[in-house]
Amino acid sequence: MSNKQLDTLRQSLPSWVEASIPCSASGKVASYIPELSKAPHDALGITIIAPDGELISAGDCSQVFTLQSISKVFTLILALMDNGEEEVFKRVGMEPTGDNFNSMLKLELVRPGIPFNPFINAGAITITSLIHGRSMEEKSQRILDLFHILTSQKELSYDIDVFNSELESGDLNRSIAYFLKGNQVLIGDVDEVLDIYFKHCSILVQCADLARMGLILAFDGVDPLTGNRLLPKRYVQIAKTFMTTCGMYNASGEFAIDVGLPAKSGVSGGILSLVPGSYGIGVIGPSLNDKGNSQAGVHLLETVSKQMNWSMF
Ligand code: DON
Repeated sequence: MSNKQLDTLRQSLPSWVEASIPCSASGKVASYIPELSKAPHDALGITIIAPDGELISAGDCSQVFTLQSISKVFTLILALMDNGEEEVFKRVGMEPTGDNFNSMLKLELVRPGIPFNPFINAGAITITSLIHGRSMEEKSQRILDLFHILTSQKELSYDIDVFNSELESGDLNRSIAYFLKGNQVLIGDVDEVLDIYFKHCSILVQCADLARMGLILAFDGVDPLTGNRLLPKRYVQIAKTFMTTCGMYNASGEFAIDVGLPAKSGVSGGILSLVPGSYGIGVIGPSLNDKGNSQAGVHLLETVSKQMNWSMF
């Protein structure tokens, strides 16, 4: 990695964060999961990790937040590891929807009624039902163990208040899951699947954790710090493709044009991104735009990508 790039990042990241903070004002912190609404509106933080493990951070990077939909990247990879490509893609598609992440519109409109992709809620709930384990507890533990490995064995835990809040306010997800079960897309017990789904959405992380996970994706599943392969290359390739086409909900096209990097956002305001073969990136900015992406976080990533000339396109 060129020292010049790292020098630029070390010097400029704080001012790029400062310049993006005002963007939070025009967004809103998610409130449909009531517990999420407690997050600070104008917080903004970023951590970028280099392949030698150096962390370059700025802003509110010590903020702790829940993974939400960012977890879907890794539950997809785990479901692929457990079932193989053929089985997984019998139950979820590979295309963007252009609809909101919790929409069920196309499940009825477009045959054969499988979710369009693994990152919308319908797809992610179906993917969760494919995770192997003898019990609901074992399935959740296997997911948490994967995150332990990807974040360098750091102890991770759930935000129980966010989990309970999702459980109490999750009627739309419950409707989606029952609809999928009624159409034999989701197999298993709806309450169990949703318990596992809400749990992985409520895993607590910081920007550095997202950056570490992004770094492993950037190196096609190998941890560049140890040389160990942690994830199969093919499944990382699939996940990164979905991040590029569907990772920022129905603003993924605009994000590809403005930023040009694979990314996945969550409604807590987190964004995991990466520069292929180079860096992992974690961002938090709880104030969201109307598509559900961090308002200031997207602005910050656009600035960083343009200044560093990081777009893949
Ligand atoms: O199920 C939900 O609505 C949240 N737990 C996750 C939503 C999110 O981050 C965006 N989803 N694609």
